[in-house]
Amino acid sequence: MENFRKIIQHNREWAAAMKEADPDYFRKKASKQEPLFLYIGCADSRVPANVVTGTEPGELFVHRNIANLVLPSDLNAMSVLQFAVEVLDVKHVIVTGHYQCGGVKAAMAGQPYGLVDHWLQPIRNVIRWNKAELDGIIDEQQRFNRIVELNVLEQLYHLSETPVIQNAWAKGKRPLLHGLVYDIHEGILREIATGVDSQEAADDLAARRLSGVPAGPPPITGRFPTVGGEAFADAIANRVAEKMGHGNTPPKP
Ligand code: CO
Repeated sequence: MENFRKIIQHNREWAAAMKEADPDYFRKKASKQEPLFLYIGCADSRVPANVVTGTEPGELFVHRNIANLVLPSDLNAMSVLQFAVEVLDVKHVIVTGHYQCGGVKAAMAGQPYGLVDHWLQPIRNVIRWNKAELDGIIDEQQRFNRIVELNVLEQLYHLSETPVIQNAWAKGKRPLLHGLVYDIHEGILREIATGVDSQEAADDLAARRLSGVPAGPPPITGRFPTVGGEAFADAIANRVAEKMGHGNTPPKP
């Protein structure tokens, strides 16, 4: 009970301090919210959305769940997404994973955990689809980190396929989608993919992920990475195979 009382005590001190700095602070905040960002992150207590992004109340619309998944069957996530994009008109949707994610670790483990296994199944798919790349990573920690990154990219792809994002893109180039990974050892948000503004850019990221090419911001001038040679040809071959429905791209759910 003492720990709980501490939370209430801290709240009173915080509210008093904010009011002292600006007597109108809460009146202004209460009147409206105009966040520029929808943040989708993990429920992990070590990754507090406002703290790590340096944002104040009113600046970040937030959805969190175990392992920052974006699933079309998740009524909660889809409702948050629709409200954020269609009503609040956010300009950016940010999926933020984090190293040492317990959800990802559980998905990597061979043992059953119960109900949460259903939730984590999409991460097991990510591991299976990227087996070729992951098998090449000997170091266990690096492999874990890479799965965290790949999971963020997969969730970005899920986002790009939602009717909400598709409709928004059909009307304009917003919102931009971004994939970040919070480095829990350094306190740094690492940019895995930023500025995704079209299905082509999302497809491109997915193709690069599945061919083991490290993801970064999508190319500005073309839909394939300009790495040349074999990788370039492979990317095109993958893309064609995907269009014909028998590529090494994961099947649509
Ligand atoms: Co986590």
